[in-house]
Amino acid sequence: MTILVTGAGGQLGSELAARLGRRATAYDRDLLDITEAIEVVMLLDHEDEDDSIEAVVNCAAYTHVDAAETSAEQCFRVNADAVETLARTCAARDIPLVQISTDYVFGGDRGRTTPYTEDDSPAPVNVYGESKLAGERFAASCPKHLVVRTCGLYAAPRAFQQVTNFAQTMLRLGRERNAVRVVADQVCSPTYVPHLAAAVLFLLEREAWGTYHVVDRGAVSWCEFAVELFRQAGVNTRVEAITTQEYAKTKEPIAPRPKYSVLDTTIYARLGGPGLPTWREGIAAYLAALTRDSASS
Ligand SMILES: NC(=O)c1ccc[n+]([C@@H]2O[C@H](COP(=O)([O-])OP(=O)(O)OC[C@H]3O[C@@H](n4cnc5c(N)ncnc54)[C@H](OP(=O)(O)O)[C@@H]3O)[C@@H](O)[C@H]2O)c1
Repeated sequence: MTILVTGAGGQLGSELAARLGRRATAYDRDLLDITEAIEVVMLLDHEDEDDSIEAVVNCAAYTHVDAAETSAEQCFRVNADAVETLARTCAARDIPLVQISTDYVFGGDRGRTTPYTEDDSPAPVNVYGESKLAGERFAASCPKHLVVRTCGLYAAPRAFQQVTNFAQTMLRLGRERNAVRVVADQVCSPTYVPHLAAAVLFLLEREAWGTYHVVDRGAVSWCEFAVELFRQAGVNTRVEAITTQEYAKTKEPIAPRPKYSVLDTTIYARLGGPGLPTWREGIAAYLAALTRDSASS
């Protein structure tokens, strides 16, 4: 019996695949395109005792938040329609489905200043958030499901990966430039991928079906996050706080973002699984991993 990890070429999928080792059937997009319904069904129907699927962790997603605004159909095909197929197929075979979701299902109540709980009503402000919310709803139709909402993922890239994340982009820009401009009016809970991966595996092991918020602890703007990242990394650059509106003027059209999308993790914490470190500890762990990787390469 193995755990199918989809999207295994991505940040979270590759981390889960590494942690599960031989317990995982890890498929990147080349091996399994989750929008190919027939392939998904055939894979889950595999009867061989040794490698039949005991659970599915869906890490595959269309994650280009800005591009989604003009590619809604493609975004929904991956983040919603494919999840419907996974949910239906898993439900029919009594296989648990883990769907990874996002803080971007929230943000519609612009005056929000307190962390969102699992009971709060979602109200996405962009196409990506809408597609992920639709995916959550499909996933929840599978009786044994976990919907795990998280935020601002970053990890040290593996050798084969072409991943970009905020931390990586900031380190590059900070080393190239005397000053970087970073938005200060979006507050959330950026999360170091290994912290999330440990929690996901705990929830799956525990069979604690339902919806959970899993993020590194604390609330921070992207600007504050960049300042702390540079401080810990010893990068000497000036950080200029800007508004989302100012940032939008310098870039291609960008998707609307929640001003505040901090997630409350109380329900997860009560289960007594791996603790969720603070976002500052997330940065420290990330920088340590980068140093380890560069020393070993
Ligand atoms: N990244 C974040 O900041 C963030 C925040 C909150 C929630 N999440 C959620 O967390 C989960 C994991 O995110 P991540 O950071 O690991 O994302 P990621 O690094 O972008 O990985 C997603 C993977 O899915 C693959 N993929 C895209 N379309 C696919 C398809 N049709 N079939 C199979 N694979 C496909 C991508 O391949 P290609 O690269 O070839 O397209 C990529 O390898 C996602 O559900 C995401 O929505 C992410």
